[in-house]
Amino acid sequence: MFAGAVLVMLVWLVQLWMLQCGGQEPVDLLDRSVFQPQSALAGMDFVTVSSYRGPGNTDTRSNKELPILLWWSSNLFPHFPGDTERVDCAHSSCLVTRNRKVQLQRRTASIIFYGTDFRAYEAPLPRLPHQTWALFHEESPMNNYLLSHGPGIRLFNYTATFRRESDYPLTLQWLPSLEYLLHPPSVSLQEKNRWRQAGLAPVLYMQSHCDVPSDRDRYVQELMKYIEVDSYGKCLNNKSLPERLEDTSTATGEEREFMSFVGRYKFHLALENGLCPDYMTEKLWRPLHQGCVPVYRGSSSVSDWLPNDHSAVLIDSFSSPKELADFIRALDEDDEEYLHYLEFKTPSKITNLRLLEGLQSREWGVNDMSKPNYLNGFECFVCDRENERIAAQKAHRRNPTKFPKPQPKTANSTHMGCPLPSPGYGHADEIDTNDGWLQMWPQDYWQSLDQAEGLESLIKHNESDPGLLWHHIHSMAMKRSGGQ
Ligand SMILES: *[C@@H]1O[C@H](CO)[C@@H](O)[C@H](O)[C@H]1NC(C)=O
Ligand SMILES: *[C@@H]1O[C@H](CO)[C@@H](O)[C@H](O)[C@H]1NC(C)=O
Ligand SMILES: *[C@@H]1O[C@H](CO)[C@@H](O)[C@H](O)[C@H]1NC(C)=O
Ligand SMILES: *[C@@H]1O[C@H](CO)[C@@H](O)[C@H](O)[C@H]1NC(C)=O
Repeated sequence: MFAGAVLVMLVWLVQLWMLQCGGQEPVDLLDRSVFQPQSALAGMDFVTVSSYRGPGNTDTRSNKELPILLWWSSNLFPHFPGDTERVDCAHSSCLVTRNRKVQLQRRTASIIFYGTDFRAYEAPLPRLPHQTWALFHEESPMNNYLLSHGPGIRLFNYTATFRRESDYPLTLQWLPSLEYLLHPPSVSLQEKNRWRQAGLAPVLYMQSHCDVPSDRDRYVQELMKYIEVDSYGKCLNNKSLPERLEDTSTATGEEREFMSFVGRYKFHLALENGLCPDYMTEKLWRPLHQGCVPVYRGSSSVSDWLPNDHSAVLIDSFSSPKELADFIRALDEDDEEYLHYLEFKTPSKITNLRLLEGLQSREWGVNDMSKPNYLNGFECFVCDRENERIAAQKAHRRNPTKFPKPQPKTANSTHMGCPLPSPGYGHADEIDTNDGWLQMWPQDYWQSLDQAEGLESLIKHNESDPGLLWHHIHSMAMKRSGGQ
C-alpha cells in the first residue's frame, strides 16, 4: 500500500517536471531566427484586432445581460488593454474576460482554455453543469498529450484544433496564402545542379529541437547511411552555416539571403515534432515556398492538402530509409522527373480542390489585418453557439412540447486523437531501455491518460479542489491493481 503510494507520487513528480521542462518547444536562436512561425499567435497585435459585428447580429442587450466567456488561460486573452471586453460577433454578443472571479457565476456560460497550458491539477472546479468548456489548441500534440486521449478531449464541448474534424478547424494555419506557395519561383535547376557538382548534398536537414516524440533524428540518422545529407541544425549536425547567416539572428525564414541559401538544395527533410492527422506546420509549407521538395513525415493525411499529387516525397510510403534514399537519388539524377515536383509553382498546377477551398473559405487570416485572427474568431464561434444554446434552453423551458431540449454537444477523439509516439525507425522492443526517447515520450503519453482520467473522476465526484487530482489518480491505480 505504502510502496504503491510512493510510486504514484514519484510518477506524479516526474510528470510535473516534464510538463514544466518538456512540454514546450525550447526557443533557441536558430529556431527563433530561421524558423520564425507564421502562426497568427506569434506576431499578433492585439491593439488592432477587434471583433466584427456581423450583419446578422441584432443583439440589443446591454453588457449586464450578456453571457460571459471566461478565458482560463489569461495570457492568451485576445484583447488589449483591460481584462474584460464586449464582443459583437456574427450573430450575437458576449462579454469576454480573463478575470477568474467570474468562474462560478450563473452568467458565465463558457470557459475557454489554451491546450498547451491546460493542466488537470488547476482545472476550474467544481464543474458547473450549465457551463461549457472550449478548447483552443493549435500547437503540436507533444505540448499536451492529455488532449489526445478520449477522457481528455471529452472534457470539452467546443474545439479549435489542427484537425479538420474539430468545430473550428485550424488545419491550414501555417499556410498564409496561396501566394505563399507560388512565390518566389524556385532556384533554377541548372543552378541547383551546379551546386550539387560543387559539393552540396542533395538533401538539407536543419533541426535544432532534437528530443521530440516523432523521434525524427533516429530516422534521419539511418537515412544518412544511404544518401548525403547536409545537416546544419543542432540535431545530427555535420555542417555549419556560412558565418553571415549565423550572424543574422534577426533573420527569418523569409529573409532573402537565407532563402537563397536553403533554396539551392533539391530536397528538404521535413519531419514534424509530433505525428497526428492534419498536424502540418511550416516544416511542410516552407520548403514548398522556397521551391524545394519536402521529404515529409507528420500528418498521415498530408496528401489531402498538398498542391497536387506530385509536390512532396512522403517518407511513410517507403518501406525503409534505404528505399527512400534510392528514390531521392533517382530523382536527383532525373531532371525532367525532378522538375515535375516543382510544377505547383505554376498556378494552374495547383489542382487540389480541398486545399483551394480550405484557403478560400476560412474566415480567419494569417498576418492579414482585414480578417479576424483565429483566437478572436474562435471566441466569437463560442459566443454565437452559447447564445444559441441559451436561447434554445429558454424556449424549451417556456414550451417543452414545441421546443425539444437542446442536445448536449461534446468533443471526441476525432478532434485531436494523436497516436502513441513510436520510434522514428525500428521497433520499441529493439531500442535500448536507457534510450532517452523511450524513457520520455511513451511514458508522457500514458501519464497524460492518468491525468485525464483523474480529472474526469474529480468532476464526477463534484470536487472543488483540483489539487486532489493525484489522490484520485492514486485511488484509480489502486483499484486497477486489485486494491493491494
Ligand atoms: C553529413 O553526414 C552525412 C552522413 O553521415 C554525409 O553523407 C554528409 O556528406 C555529411 N556532410 C558533411 C558536410 O560532413
Ligand atoms: C459539455 O460536455 C460535458 C462532457 O464533458 C457534458 O456532460 C455536457 O452535457 C456538455 N454540455 C453541453 C451544453 O453540451
Ligand atoms: C465525433 O464528433 C463529431 C462532431 O464533431 C461527430 O460528427 C462524430 O459522429 C463523433 N464521433 C463519435 C465516434 O462520436
Ligand atoms: C457540487 O459542489 C458545489 C459546491 O462545491 C455545490 O454548490 C453543488 O450543489 C454540488 N453539486 C452537486 C450535484 O452535488
